[in-house]
Amino acid sequence: MTLRLDYSNMMVQPGGIPEKVWNDTLALFPPAAAAVEKLRATSAVGFIDLPKDRKLIEQATSFAAKARGRYGDVVILGIGGSALGPIALRTALRPSGWNTLDDSARGGFPRLHVLDNVDPVTIASLLERIDLARTLFIVTSKSGGTAETMAQFLIVEARLNEKKLKLSDHFVFVTDPKTGALRPLAGKLGVSALDIPPNIGGRFSVLTPVGTLPAALIGIDVEKLLAGAGKMADRCKGADISANPAGIYALLQWTADTKLAKTIQVLMPYSDPLRDFADWFVQLWAESLGKHTPDGSSVGPTPLAALGATDQHSQVQLFMEGPANKTLTFIAVDDHGADVKIPSAHADVTELAYLSGHSLAELISIEQRATAGALARRGRPNMTVHIDRVSEESVGELMMFLEIATSYAGQLYGIDAFNQPGVELGKQFAYALLGRPGADAAKKEWELLPKADPRWTI
Ligand code: PA5
Repeated sequence: MTLRLDYSNMMVQPGGIPEKVWNDTLALFPPAAAAVEKLRATSAVGFIDLPKDRKLIEQATSFAAKARGRYGDVVILGIGGSALGPIALRTALRPSGWNTLDDSARGGFPRLHVLDNVDPVTIASLLERIDLARTLFIVTSKSGGTAETMAQFLIVEARLNEKKLKLSDHFVFVTDPKTGALRPLAGKLGVSALDIPPNIGGRFSVLTPVGTLPAALIGIDVEKLLAGAGKMADRCKGADISANPAGIYALLQWTADTKLAKTIQVLMPYSDPLRDFADWFVQLWAESLGKHTPDGSSVGPTPLAALGATDQHSQVQLFMEGPANKTLTFIAVDDHGADVKIPSAHADVTELAYLSGHSLAELISIEQRATAGALARRGRPNMTVHIDRVSEESVGELMMFLEIATSYAGQLYGIDAFNQPGVELGKQFAYALLGRPGADAAKKEWELLPKADPRWTI
């Protein structure tokens, strides 16, 4: 079965999108779709065609086949788009608690650690507890020069050298085929390097070896992942919005943000395997859409990750009665792949008796429907993405669905969804403070900042 988007609760009145507003905005979709199609057709944007890129898929699968049985741990050195996709894939598509399972429960596949930061506590403790002789480090960086990733690389390289381990046995790089420091370094060190195509940026790269290599190494079926993504890419081809779920999603969210001031957009899967998927979405939506338009105004919705049912006891109070500035997207899973019956006992205790005879799969599903209904009754627009189960196919579909929706939304906002100029100044300041050559202008700008003022410090 394929992904299904039910957006009836986006139209609730009062509170949701009035039908007239919706009907008026529908006309904005064909030009947005045409612009995305042009980017695709001219190869300016490459992620939509990844499911057909056999060579790229095979780069990952053949490396993983050769590595089979050699490593107990795989560690990704990378950050942002180089890390969030692999984390989401591991949590969604490997058994719960993967890194804590023993070798036989993991089917002989390695553990997967993803650094995604430069907190010394995490890195020091990871390097302490893994056996370097049985570890593969994947250095993932599209630009091949990200400070955090390069720092991680230098630390690991020194440790491997200290232990006299051959770098080419313990490193593989995933980077742009031409640009950046990693590619020549791979040649110099004799390390294999897999490609992130030039027309695919970090947060759109999960279906390149950024995601497919670690996925294949830990036994995820990347062919099925890509097949699911391909199915969604085919569904989202046309300018006919009624057949295009990514188009509907982008237009709903854009309309809610720009016409109804629903500036916060929550993704709330009712599924533990999809909890890290919500973080992957947050980066995709935030870094792609939070931008300056050509006329200098600031646009972009604020994405927020939540988890059902857990957040019913945390954020849902805010969603129900706090500012009416949010949309919610639930992900509901028909078949959780496991179920636990709730035993019948204590028939005389009201708080327990009604649960008897139900199951946890029933409970989580009913709670999702109840929360969606309650929000709708209070005029809080929401929608539900239904998937049959969390599988390689459905996760591939979901990823492609949201990536294409992000591209359409970029067109609707009139911004470039594929760059991230806003992170540049912070990077330049960090370079200046670290003494990187060429950061003189940033150093001067840094010095213009007000110094910490005792009057404003407590
Ligand atoms: O989406 C993006 O482009 C960014 O979040 C990058 O993934 C992140 O900054 C890391 O960049 P790189 O892959 O070049 O090391």
